[in-house]
Amino acid sequence: MKHLPHKTLILAPDPDGIANAARLLCAGQLVAMPTETVYGLAGDARNADAVAAIFAAKGRPSFNPLIVHVASVAEAQRIAELPPAALSLASAFWPGPLTLVAPLRTGHGLAPAVTAGLQTVAIRVPAHPLAQRLLAEFGAPLAAPSANPSGRISPTTVAHVLGGLEGRIAAILDGGSCAVGLESTIVGFEDGMPVILREGGISREAIANCLGTCAAPSTRDKITAPGQLASHYAPRATLRLNANAPKPGEIWIGFGPQCAEARLTLSPTGNLDEAASRLFAVLHEADATGQPIAVAPVPDHGLGAAINDRLRRAAAPRSG
Ligand code: TXA
Ligand code: MG
Repeated sequence: MKHLPHKTLILAPDPDGIANAARLLCAGQLVAMPTETVYGLAGDARNADAVAAIFAAKGRPSFNPLIVHVASVAEAQRIAELPPAALSLASAFWPGPLTLVAPLRTGHGLAPAVTAGLQTVAIRVPAHPLAQRLLAEFGAPLAAPSANPSGRISPTTVAHVLGGLEGRIAAILDGGSCAVGLESTIVGFEDGMPVILREGGISREAIANCLGTCAAPSTRDKITAPGQLASHYAPRATLRLNANAPKPGEIWIGFGPQCAEARLTLSPTGNLDEAASRLFAVLHEADATGQPIAVAPVPDHGLGAAINDRLRRAAAPRSG
């Protein structure tokens, strides 16, 4: 495509790097920015060309809406009508790995493609200090899906972003490894009731604690978060779940001390937070071997629910 930059700059995590990132964004270019969850592919959420470029760079279907990143709850309220339960969640977990889906507010100013034409918007205030400084310097909302080609494993390092998008985006702001390592939890509201649209960096239990009631998984059959598509986060190789031992030729990803033999591990001690933060890096590493992948069982509580969600999608049959 024309207009694609062919050299992707790596910007240092200092005032110059942030100023350069903001300048590129103002010019409608795309910059991968670190967040506490995964790297996001940021573009000016008000600029239709920048938003179109995000979909093009990722090869993302245009029906799959983007998350809008803002600096504060007040800014979120300029874009979305947050119901009371959303405000409770925002005050408990923002800045942090939580995305709220709520109705668009009149005069929101976003390019329509950001929400794929929906009347709702997914919005979050990221906690990563570089994302916050970039948002402050840029001074407007940033649309940012995960910075990977659509359907592939999400990026938690600069090397992952380069591996998927080098030459297709203007720059990457270097924030090292992402601490949480899993995407944000997405909570929407159906008939006023909170529903979990995607498991992620804030556990179901933490959300239930905050609201004093369990947020159910969505019961709508239509896909309200296309990241919910069965095949997603796919490595190139096949992936086998709940593997207590590898089969010949497989690369085994362990979890916990009972998997001491495994060449790769999500967490040698069986710590779910550590496993979440290492998940995508370990999947990238396993995939690089070209061998079929087998993953040890991971308990389903806390961040384990989101880990298992991503593993199931990575293991799902895909259509090429
Ligand atoms: O942690 C994260 O959430 C990362 C960082 C960069 O913030 N972003 C991320 O974006 O994971 P992405 O595009 O990979 O996933 C966004 C998900 C998609 O599954 C999309 O379908 C859903 O959010 N989504 C966006 N807008 C929506 C809406 N209005 N209603 C329901 N789902 C929505
Ligand atoms: Mg994604």
